[in-house]
Amino acid sequence: MVSYDTVAVVDFGGQYAHLISRRIRELKVYSEVIAWDKAPYTLKDLLNLKGIIFSGGPSSIYDENAPKIDASVYSLNIPILGICYGHQLIAAQFDGVVSKADYREYGRIKLIIKKEDRLFKGVGKETIVWMSHGDQVEKLPKGFINLAITQHSKFAAFYNPKRKIYGVQFHPEVVHTVEGKKILKNFLYKVCGCKPNWKASNFIFQAIEEIKKEYNGGKVVCAVSGGLDSTVTAVLVKKVAKDSLVCVFVNNGLLRKGEPESVIKSLNKLGLNIVYVDASERFLKCLKNVADPETKRKVVGETFLEVFDEVAAKHGPFAYLAQGTLYPDVIESAKAGSPAATIKSHHNVGGLPSKLPYKLIEPLRYMYKDEVRRIASKLGLPDSIVKRHPFPGPGLSARIIGEVNEEKLRVSREASAIVEEELKKAGYYGKVWQAFAYVGDDKAVAVVGDTRMYGYMVTVKVVTSRDGMTADWAKLPSKLLEQISQRITNEVKDVASVSYCVSSKPPATIEPQ
Ligand code: XMP
Repeated sequence: MVSYDTVAVVDFGGQYAHLISRRIRELKVYSEVIAWDKAPYTLKDLLNLKGIIFSGGPSSIYDENAPKIDASVYSLNIPILGICYGHQLIAAQFDGVVSKADYREYGRIKLIIKKEDRLFKGVGKETIVWMSHGDQVEKLPKGFINLAITQHSKFAAFYNPKRKIYGVQFHPEVVHTVEGKKILKNFLYKVCGCKPNWKASNFIFQAIEEIKKEYNGGKVVCAVSGGLDSTVTAVLVKKVAKDSLVCVFVNNGLLRKGEPESVIKSLNKLGLNIVYVDASERFLKCLKNVADPETKRKVVGETFLEVFDEVAAKHGPFAYLAQGTLYPDVIESAKAGSPAATIKSHHNVGGLPSKLPYKLIEPLRYMYKDEVRRIASKLGLPDSIVKRHPFPGPGLSARIIGEVNEEKLRVSREASAIVEEELKKAGYYGKVWQAFAYVGDDKAVAVVGDTRMYGYMVTVKVVTSRDGMTADWAKLPSKLLEQISQRITNEVKDVASVSYCVSSKPPATIEPQ
């Protein structure tokens, strides 16, 4: 039996609640995000709860429907840190005064620490923090001590020693708060007494315990792609469901070069029971004459479901569906009206609609991507899976502009393979988030030997990112770009020119379609 400390992040609708939880886990303490209105009863169920953080939020505490925290949470006698809205809420709920700030602090601001405290241990007397607020604490409640000020905030951080409650007006979780990580670390280790005991072995233990609780016998189906999330899901479920797990690998004709063969080989090596379905012709037929990016995604998703249903009819009946949903997806989908999915309708082999007649097993639903990589490594999965770049569910159709056809698939596939190979050779593959080549219908004139040719214009895209939500174009050495370009024009038939995409996300998205 392993145990780990937990710190809950109570979400007041702020854009950073998620980030706070990630920062805590980076400091090796387990953390869960909890909706403010569910806090009174959810907090009581958390094992080894050592601390609570109130996130920021868009409301003013004097708004009619401003979220509040039930008084019972304060009676748990567990240390609390309020951030921004959380800071103001604590002040207001303990009868301090919060009002509209005369001067709205936004961006990098100098914080001056007025009183030594363990929360600021090792932090400079003056330090740069990130602020974003319209209201501010005007008068501290009784029993609260002021710890820090800024030019415009009289109470930028406070402490109630009797109740072990802290508040900070700034955001320690964002990188612009220069010593933010130190402040969070002090809260976790020095105030809450947490130990850095959230490790890969704990994630695995927790995931397997969850599966055992949910699984009651019967067949489990898991759609696998050879990617990180679905493979780790299958390996974990296999530990409980044993031979009752059936992994379905659908070749949709939109996979990378050599992928069907290499995926089957590596999944077989992991002892997984694979049902391989080559539906490539069917997918390409359905995609014929479809040029609109959203329609393409829809067609790929629907065709996948049809194929999946047929497999289920043949190899089932299945009682469970295992999928590799990650924590950010769970949190996003829990937020009503979240705009997150409206830019592109994302889906992957694991993203089947929940109306399917199976009980869901989602062992990674409390994990972040970097944690899944650590799990994969701890489970002994090969680097080809642990370090594999993310690949979209709609596959190469997201990298073909206009209609998907064999010709453009060949160009994108061959050129992307060259991009990956060259990055691996130069030691860049593991440093970037994704690297590929995309192609459309535009053509350019080139001279090959003494002959004029009219060929495809290929765009190489290499991006760095932490989580795919934002991304920067990778500043690769020009020698490497030159090598990639030369190889593509020399080795991929009918390519006339190669360009490099220098758009970041936002405004561009990572996949061009
Ligand atoms: P975009 O293109 O929206 O992509 O900037 C962000 C990240 O998500 C991946 N992506 C997908 N992944 N199913 C997936 O599993 C999808 O439909 C899908 N579309 C995009 C993309 O590769 C990038 O890492």
